[in-house]
Amino acid sequence: MSDEKMTAPVEAKPEKKKIILSGIQPTGIFTLGNYIGAVRNWGQLQEDYNCYYFVADLHSLTIRQDPADLRKQSLEAFALLLAAGIDPEKSLVFIQSHVRSHAELGWILACNSMFGELSRMTQFKDKAAKHADNVNAGLFTYPSLMAADILLYQADYVPVGADQTQHLEFTRNVANRFNGIYGNVFKLPEAFLPKEGAKIMSLQDPAKKMSKSDPNPKSRISILDDEDTIMRKFRSAVTDSEAHVCYRDDKPGINNLMTIYSVVTGKTYGQIEAEFEGKGYGDFKTAVGEAVSEELRPIRENFARLIGDKAYLEETYKMGAERAERISGRTLAKVRKKIGLLANPF
Ligand code: TRP
Repeated sequence: MSDEKMTAPVEAKPEKKKIILSGIQPTGIFTLGNYIGAVRNWGQLQEDYNCYYFVADLHSLTIRQDPADLRKQSLEAFALLLAAGIDPEKSLVFIQSHVRSHAELGWILACNSMFGELSRMTQFKDKAAKHADNVNAGLFTYPSLMAADILLYQADYVPVGADQTQHLEFTRNVANRFNGIYGNVFKLPEAFLPKEGAKIMSLQDPAKKMSKSDPNPKSRISILDDEDTIMRKFRSAVTDSEAHVCYRDDKPGINNLMTIYSVVTGKTYGQIEAEFEGKGYGDFKTAVGEAVSEELRPIRENFARLIGDKAYLEETYKMGAERAERISGRTLAKVRKKIGLLANPF
């Protein structure tokens, strides 16, 4: 008789995947910049990480929003995440305000955030200057809510753009302070920086970041723009008068187009320079436009299908909210207990 049964090795536990978390505000259709800088990478991380992605609708309230537009854009943002390849079976996808823990921990963390440190946030200063008629308290405590978003889920990594690294640093400081006072509750998250920090600039002013809120629509590619629109916008992109496709410090317009083309096609700058040797900017812009339009085609098509299927979207965000509620509820219960709130009677 074999004693195989007794000696069979216990199967090694698969290593637990690290948690990645990020949010995006529903303030308009994402641009090619949001896509290349964030959402495209989010999809690629799903295999190797436990990914949590959400539509940060509460954060959008810090700027005055038209209620009907906010409702519409929140659903569109959710659909766009799915259209861009985030799979609700693999990742947790939800809408921030559906999960009450965010607002609740946001308040608790606001009570552990210092006036001085919030005053130093450059985004607060920028937004306060831009919206001088509405410098509300939420705009000021925005980083406390963002810290809550992250800390509720014990996230290991947060993929953020350069404009959010200060908020992530703030999150670590608040978590550290809280853990120091009340005992270890929060994991300290780290920034997750994409390999090539592909920052996409405005097509009309390559010194500025491509932005959803730029008043000039020619400055950006929306990820739902149709092929003709994409081609037209690239053709009118601001470059220089040299007519030589190469990556050089004094050619910000061409550098931006080269970055876009390189990310989308996987070609290196050297390969791109060789490909357009002796050709003019017209040919190059056409090639970039075609490559981008092809890259975005499946997103356009998926989006059109998804936005027509409200029942599916509702079912999917409900499923996400339920799971998010369970996960975040565990952290919130610990926090409540630590700081001395009476146990919730329901
Ligand atoms: N503040 C982020 C932005 O505007 C959005 C956001 C809200 C976020 N909560 C987050 C990003 C938590 C990462 C993690 O881009």
